[in-house]
This record gives sequence, C-alpha cells and structure tokens, in this order.
Amino acid sequence: MPDALDQPDPDWWRQAVVYQIYPRSFADTDGDGVGDIPGAVSKIDYLADLGVDAVWLSPFYPSPMADGGYDVSDYRDVHPQLGTLADFDALVTGAHARGMKVIVDIVPNHTSDEHPWFVEALAAAPGSPARDRYIFRDGLGENGSQPPSDWISHFGGSAWTRVTDAAGRPGQWYCHLFAPQQPDLDWRHPEVRSDFITTLRFWADRGVDGYRVDVAHALAKDLSEPLRSKPDLEDDLPLDGSDPLYDRNEVHEIYQEWRQVFDTYDPPRSAVAEAVSHPARRALYARPTELGQAFNFSLMKAPFGARTFGEVITFCLAEAAKTGSSSTWVLSNHDDIRHVTRYGLPAGTSYEAWLMTEGTDPVPDLARGLRRARAATTLMFALPGSSYVYQGEELGLPEVADLPAEALQDPTWTDSGHTVKGRDGCRVPIPWAPTPPAYGFGPGRPWLPQPATFAALSAAVQAQEPDSTLELYRRALQLRRRLQGAEQLDWVASEPDVLHFVRPGGWHCVTNFGDVPVALPPGQVVLSSTGTTVADELAGESTVWLTSV
Ligand code: NOJ
Repeated sequence: MPDALDQPDPDWWRQAVVYQIYPRSFADTDGDGVGDIPGAVSKIDYLADLGVDAVWLSPFYPSPMADGGYDVSDYRDVHPQLGTLADFDALVTGAHARGMKVIVDIVPNHTSDEHPWFVEALAAAPGSPARDRYIFRDGLGENGSQPPSDWISHFGGSAWTRVTDAAGRPGQWYCHLFAPQQPDLDWRHPEVRSDFITTLRFWADRGVDGYRVDVAHALAKDLSEPLRSKPDLEDDLPLDGSDPLYDRNEVHEIYQEWRQVFDTYDPPRSAVAEAVSHPARRALYARPTELGQAFNFSLMKAPFGARTFGEVITFCLAEAAKTGSSSTWVLSNHDDIRHVTRYGLPAGTSYEAWLMTEGTDPVPDLARGLRRARAATTLMFALPGSSYVYQGEELGLPEVADLPAEALQDPTWTDSGHTVKGRDGCRVPIPWAPTPPAYGFGPGRPWLPQPATFAALSAAVQAQEPDSTLELYRRALQLRRRLQGAEQLDWVASEPDVLHFVRPGGWHCVTNFGDVPVALPPGQVVLSSTGTTVADELAGESTVWLTSV
C-alpha cells in the first residue's frame, strides 16, 4: 500500500527488506534463456506477497556481458535482450503501486570496453584527451613490455592490459581492477564526474528510489608517478586511507556531490555503498552527507555461532550508529556461495578450493545447512536495520557447485586460467515450477543449467507447504512489519550457545546455535524457523520470535 496519506517517507530505507533481483536469472519471458525485465514485472505480485519493501536490480543496462552486466556500455538504457525503457517504467509503476521501492545498481569504477568513451580512447593517440577518462600508461622495461605497476585484477592476473596502436604495434597499457573488458575510469576527470550525475538524475527522474553503488571504495586512486606498489587486494587495508587503490579519503568528495543530487528529490534518493574497507572505515560511506548506508558483509562472513554472530551484530550496530545510519544485513548475494551451502560445510572450508572439487570434497550437509540458514535468516529479520535478501534464498536454494566447465560464464573462470570457478553457482536461474526442463524460469533453455533438485524447491511447490522456507520468509516478513519499532536492541543474558535480544515493544528473538534443545524463555512464540509446529523447547540450530506475555 502507498505510504499513509501518500506522504513520502524519507527514512523508508532504514529498516527495509530489500530483495535483490539478478535479472538474467530471475524470470525469462521471451524464451531466449536469459531473464528479462518483463519477467521481473510478471513476478511483482509474488514479491509483494513475499512482503519485501524494495527491489534492487543488478545491472540490466546495455552490456557485452563480460561480467554479467557489471560491464556497462550505456548507463542510461536497458539491454535489448532484457527489455526496453518502457518495460523498466512498467516495473517501477508496478512496484510503486504495491508500495515497493526500486533500487538500481550504479557501476562507476569501470565501464565496458565497448562503452563509446573507451572505443574513442582506443582510436585516439597516446596522451590524447580521449584517453584521459581512463587510466592509460606507458609500460615499463624495454619497449614498454612490462605492465606499469604490480596491480592485480580481482579476477586474476595483472590489472593492466596492453593495447595495439593504429599501426598494429603494441601500445600503451590500461588499468582494469576487474576483467580486461572493464577498463577503470579516472575519477579526476570532470566529464566522468558530470556524466555520472546525469545518470543518477536519469534514473531518479524515472522514479527510481535509490542506488546500490558498485565498488564504491575504488573510485579515487593515487595515480601520481611513479605508480605505487600494491601487492595485495583488500587485505589489511589501512585505517588512514593511504592505500593507493582502495578506500582513499578523496573518494568521499564524490559521494558528497552525489548526496547533493539525491537531496534535490522528494523524498531524497537513498544509496547503499558496496565498500570494502577496514571495517572501522565503512561508516564513512554511510554518513548522511554521503551515501547514507553501506553494506556490511560481516554477518555473511561470520561462522554460524552465538559468539561470532553476537560480536558482529554488536559491532555493526555501533558502527552504523556512529553516523546515524542504520545497519545493513546480508547472508547471500550474487557474488558469494549461497548460505544454505556455506552453513552445510565444515567451518574453515576454503570455498574456492571446494568449488574446484565440484562440491564433492567435502559433501555439504544440506539438511543442516538449511536448518541453520533458516535460523540465521529468522534472526537477521529481527535485527534493527535493513535486510538484503538475494533471489532464491527464500526458496532455500543451495549453491550449484557442479556446473560443467563449458557452462561457466563468470570471467573469474577464464581470467584465473581456470583455477577459480567463480560465482555462477549462485546465479543459476530460479525454479518457479516443478516442471523440467526450465522449472518455470521461462520457455527456453536457461543460460545456466538447473539441477533436478530444483523441482522440489520451486516456488509453486513451496507455496503449498506450510513449513517450507518460502512460507517461513512470508510469515516472518508479515510479522516483522507488525512488530517493527524503534531501531534498538537489548541483549538478554542466555546460555553460551544462545543469542537472545529484545526489541522495543517486547519482540524477543532467541537463536540456539548449538545442536541440543534448550529451554524456551517465557513469552508467546509467534514464529519458529523450524516451521509451524512449535515445541515447548528451543530446538538445536533454530530461532524463535516471542512476544512478551
Ligand atoms: C561487485 C559486483 O557485485 C560484482 O558482481 C562485480 O563483478 C564487481 N563488483 C565488478 O563490477
């Protein structure tokens, strides 16, 4: 339903549940095997019924798809394979009509190598203004045959690629912190800055409510000569913003300028930073004068345990409070192994190595993983702040770890020389119905193969089962709306394997991280992660919500 009296609520994002749509894998209407915007439109009622407050769309812009759309060739249009601007408008209208907000992904660190700016840069001579929007440098060593610095790409190998000049000879090198098809922009260039403002306005003017900012920590780089050495990626980022590539202090000037743009709208547009920094510097991105909110991935990285979860929650709430932001919580997304599978693997498993065994060594205990995932999610939904839900987690989907090598599309696979499988296993198209071959995803053959186990996990099947994960998410989100109050949490003393907190209004959340049942605290159980049957004790690896009696 629209806001009371249709008054815009400037704080809608503070305790919102945001559903991440990875469009290529969500729902396909035209049968080309790739999800599209009309597919998302067709699922709006499903999302409203699920009870989410907003949807975040991963990139749907024109793109050669070298990195699943995070290589954008036109920031102000829709990829023809995914639909049209009119389809996008229909999505916004449909979401708004059901009281849901829409967030789009902004990818400012790099463009696609097919973006007109990069095409122009390649055609231009070294040192020409067209190259200044990117980071071009002469190589080192004899004939410039060595990369200009030791910077490493996230997907493997050097962060520099050499171009060929007009005469067909090896020329300069350009910087790409991700795939070679994703050249990094030079954010000191005024046109780069102003063009992104135009993009922000373009989507806000179409009714978009907020933005997720990709790689928000990498835009400002120390490009002074000679380029500084950077042997590691994000590990041990300094507390003073002195890393040459990541989390530099100057990056905040960019977001202060963006905030001025957001605040020209009513309600002001929201934003959330994907910022990898020292955890103690994350709050800088979330300042009200900047993006307002920053993802924290600490819960996702935390092993399933009362102490680890308790520490992370306390730390993240304190960090968010520093700037008056609200905390964000994430358990799964399109870049990481789905949490059902993570929790089914022994603590300390190297996920990269595990994926290279096709998910067989060790074999995850998926029953346990699902039990823990349901407990962790039920806990997450009770926390003050906003929860980000990744498509398919409401179905309890596991990681698809045995995708055949020839099906893999993540650039990590090729750029790592086939040593790191990458992220395709969490991007397998969603099963909407139990019927093969595409399990309701669409009329064509999906761009990644789905396992037969998706039939029983499909949304249509789970909608008929009161104890399914889908029904648990629905019940939890309905109740959350009713129980939600001030952004406050008080810990209640409990046994070592148990976390117990209470929210204003007497909403208690109790999680038993251990294997053996424990006594339930007093109160009326209104939700249990185990299903609709509530025992008089708190089962192992489960969460309940209680209201005070
Ligand atoms: C972070 C995104 O979440 C990821 O999918 C992408 O590959 C990189 N940024 C590069 O844009």
